[in-house]
Amino acid sequence: MNRYIISLLSCILLFSSGLTELLYNPDDNVYQLDFATFETRLGEPTAGKLVKFFNGFCKESQDFMPAFRKLSRNLYKWRRILKVHVFDCSKDENNEICRSFRIRRTPTLRYFPMAYQRNPDDLGTEITSRNVKEIESELGLLLGKMKYFKMFTKEDNITDIFRDNAHVKYVAMVFQMCLSNFLPHFETGNSMEERFASIDDCNEANPVVSSIGRNTLLELLPYNEVVIRVFDDHEVYSKFGISPVPNLIVLLNRSIKPLFLTPEIDNSKAYAGAIRQFLVFADHKPHKPLPKTLPTNINEALRYEILEHHKHRRSHRVYRADLERAINQILKVELRRTSNFIGIKLSVLNNFLRLIYYLSPLKPEAKEKLYSLYSKTKIKTRLTGVSLEELVFKALRNYPFDGNHYIGCIASQPFLRGFSCSLWTLFHYLTVESNFKSGAVVQVFNAYVKFFMDCKDCVDKLKEFKKLRPLRNVRSHDQEVLWLWKLHNFINKQLAGDSTEDPQFPKIQFPSEKDCPNCRDNQSEWRTEEVLKYLKNIYSLKNLSWFGMASAKAYT
Ligand SMILES: Cc1cc2nc3c(=O)[nH]c(=O)nc-3n(C[C@H](O)[C@H](O)[C@H](O)COP(=O)(O)OP(=O)(O)OC[C@H]3O[C@@H](n4cnc5c(N)ncnc54)[C@H](O)[C@@H]3O)c2cc1C
Ligand SMILES: *[C@@H]1O[C@H](CO)[C@@H](O)[C@H](O)[C@H]1NC(C)=O
Ligand SMILES: *[C@@H]1O[C@H](CO)[C@@H](O)[C@H](O)[C@H]1NC(C)=O
Ligand SMILES: *[C@@H]1O[C@H](CO)[C@@H](O)[C@H](O)[C@H]1NC(C)=O
Ligand SMILES: *[C@@H]1O[C@H](CO)[C@@H](O)[C@H](O)[C@H]1NC(C)=O
Repeated sequence: MNRYIISLLSCILLFSSGLTELLYNPDDNVYQLDFATFETRLGEPTAGKLVKFFNGFCKESQDFMPAFRKLSRNLYKWRRILKVHVFDCSKDENNEICRSFRIRRTPTLRYFPMAYQRNPDDLGTEITSRNVKEIESELGLLLGKMKYFKMFTKEDNITDIFRDNAHVKYVAMVFQMCLSNFLPHFETGNSMEERFASIDDCNEANPVVSSIGRNTLLELLPYNEVVIRVFDDHEVYSKFGISPVPNLIVLLNRSIKPLFLTPEIDNSKAYAGAIRQFLVFADHKPHKPLPKTLPTNINEALRYEILEHHKHRRSHRVYRADLERAINQILKVELRRTSNFIGIKLSVLNNFLRLIYYLSPLKPEAKEKLYSLYSKTKIKTRLTGVSLEELVFKALRNYPFDGNHYIGCIASQPFLRGFSCSLWTLFHYLTVESNFKSGAVVQVFNAYVKFFMDCKDCVDKLKEFKKLRPLRNVRSHDQEVLWLWKLHNFINKQLAGDSTEDPQFPKIQFPSEKDCPNCRDNQSEWRTEEVLKYLKNIYSLKNLSWFGMASAKAYT
């Protein structure tokens, strides 16, 4: 019993090492494309491509992940002619491609034919179904348009097939015919549409109606040694010195010696079965199945992606997702802890709401809702935490705050960063975007810390700083931006190396030399003009990163 548990445990450990923290795993037959290689990969000439455009932070994308994993694993059998790719629309650098391919929501599935070239009139064929079987059958139809499925005619030469494909040992010829002419070949496509359309369309010019050849070809793709060719012309039979017979497959080896297989019934399953049986008999195996993998833990995978993003990013960014989370947390959790808003506390609350209503970094649909909240608290003379909670709930009920993950404020270890980091980020943003009276934002910040932060050390440090740099001296917007920057560095200096420091995000004198080489002169003194320029740059609304938002920029 114990041994069983131990071996089970080591098995889990074995599986969970390696690639399981990725959102998509090459062992599941899925390859991530990036913006630099996107079009080259689509242009690749030998296979069709299924591309899923996704945003891991969006609920619909997350919900579709298990089905997509099943799909991609199933599609492994078709990998000779179909590659499965994903493209991440949540990444800022990928935004341009998602926009130019007119991705309006995620997930979006598109099929691209082989040797695809971008063209505004053909941005791939959209597959709207989310059902694995339906998607597979739609793909079967789309793949059926590839050159491999082209009818073999009496002018074609089998020797050419062997010459062009060194690995091929057999060519199997499958007869497939117009329904109206030849009743036995009854197998049609998987969808009703296809079945009906084919009956009407069946004529000299467009004779392909049965899909027995196509389906046999698809079934046997896992065998490298065999290619299937489909024909619909009786006269091809005469090449092999026989007259037309139903239920007959002609199998040719490299010396063009025909061998005749007679499946029991007339459908692709039986056809493929007969050929497979022959291949097994001749000692050929299908390619190895995919290794087993564990389903992805989405939250873990996203954490991993965010941390990787920070390791590889070239310059410092400020993330919308952090601002959304700060506002969400303040309104729904932090403020509600105050039992009574009266007098100055109530006016601090109102001033804060006014700031985030006017300077809102939230999505446009939030503006009205924040206004409705502000207009309700503004007329109160007192307010309890509980009634504030109700007002917030009513006003913001239908606003979906984006994301369950801090991005710039992610912590590499539990209990660090997160909210306090996002609070700083929010107020830096507000100082930069402010068009209120000079000093208004830092006044609100000061009062917020004093009344709502519930952290004595924080209040003390703030007081200490104000002795050095009184708030009343802040007389312009620029001074306001710089005041908060200086305060933050003052506190960073005291907390550097402290147990609250996240080793992956050390407390530095901000900005770093690397992010802003011009911010210091060669005596390492600040050049405040440059610092100001830098802060206005990174914290401006226009330059916020959309990474981590459930609704990415491309389709808003
Ligand atoms: C007034 C105040 C006092 C505090 N006192 C304490 C305390 O005594 N003890 C304690 O444990 N915690 C204190 N905190 C919390 C602490 O400052 C950090 O928020 C927390 O430790 C998380 O740190 P962090 O590494 O995520 O970066 P944070 O310091 O939270 O910074 C967030 C982000 O802002 C950016 N940034 C950093 N410096 C600057 C700057 N100078 N200008 C502009 N942007 C900058 C960086 O991108 C950084 O990642 C206090 C917070 C406040 C607001
Ligand atoms: C097929 O092509 C080969 C050379 O590629 C040629 O030798 C052969 O005669 C051709 N066979 C027929 C039936 O046309
Ligand atoms: C093809 O089959 C014939 C007879 O079935 C056999 O003699 C010949 O060696 C085979 N050729 C190849 C290349 O396998
Ligand atoms: C130091 O800065 C001054 C002006 O700011 C510049 O002229 C000088 O070349 C710099 N020296 C070095 C060593 O970079
Ligand atoms: C955004 O950043 C770019 C590059 O850093 C800068 O040139 C631009 O001025 C910034 N935009 C705003 C509105 O600050």
